[in-house]
Amino acid sequence: MGTASQKHINEYDELLAEARAGTILFERERELLAPLLATSPEVVHLQSGHGLDDVALIDAGARSVVGVDYSEVAATMAQRRANDLAKACRYLAAEVPGVPLRDSCADLVYTGKGALIWMRDLSAWARDIARLLRPGGHLFVYEAHPMVPLWTWDEDETRIHPDRGYFGRTHINDTFPANGAREWQWTLGEIVTTLASAGLEVLVLEEYAEPFWRPADLPPVAAWQGRLPNAFALTARLK
Ligand SMILES: C[S@@+](CC[C@H](N)C(=O)[O-])C[C@H]1O[C@@H](n2cnc3c(N)ncnc32)[C@H](O)[C@@H]1O
Repeated sequence: MGTASQKHINEYDELLAEARAGTILFERERELLAPLLATSPEVVHLQSGHGLDDVALIDAGARSVVGVDYSEVAATMAQRRANDLAKACRYLAAEVPGVPLRDSCADLVYTGKGALIWMRDLSAWARDIARLLRPGGHLFVYEAHPMVPLWTWDEDETRIHPDRGYFGRTHINDTFPANGAREWQWTLGEIVTTLASAGLEVLVLEEYAEPFWRPADLPPVAAWQGRLPNAFALTARLK
């Protein structure tokens, strides 16, 4: 079993408590999602990971969530947590893109918080989203800003990793918890244009200084002090 899988098992109780507390969605995320959740949508969450977002989406109004993650352990643990909390979430261990769900099964596709870095084919990702959505359905993404791979985690000032560029396609992430993983890079322009090409109309694109995640016990990082982009949210609608 890989370390990522073992991590899912070790963290079960901690994450269950966090799911119960219902604090996983960001305030701005809740605001942007509010009109989409007001219609009691059927949600598909691509790369659902620990599934805490799904419990929060149900609590905020979603009728149901189908989480899709290629990690069997993540899907199993998320299902156990949803069952323990009696939430209408179902998990599928499957690859994105190429999700084995029927066409037009979702009113809302939700994804992000460390998902896009694993997508090596953005066009296939966008086509899968368009296929899963009903006409008029929405996509919601809350993700690391594409500039993030450039920033060092220095405390005194932000430097640019000398071996990385905004227009690079991939890099090796040597920081926790990725530890040597190859991550894919997509510029904001590529993300918007690829979604538009798949038939999605972008309604909201916001950029934030606050990262979606800060490792515990890390000294203050200059790149996170409010001057630089670290996250973005995007809402789009299938035409
Ligand atoms: C950092 S998590 C983000 C998900 C969720 N928001 C969370 O915080 O747990 C990324 C997830 O993507 C999954 N993943 C990575 N590549 C994938 C792929 N090609 N298809 C399906 N799942 C994938 C991983 O197993 C992991 O659970």
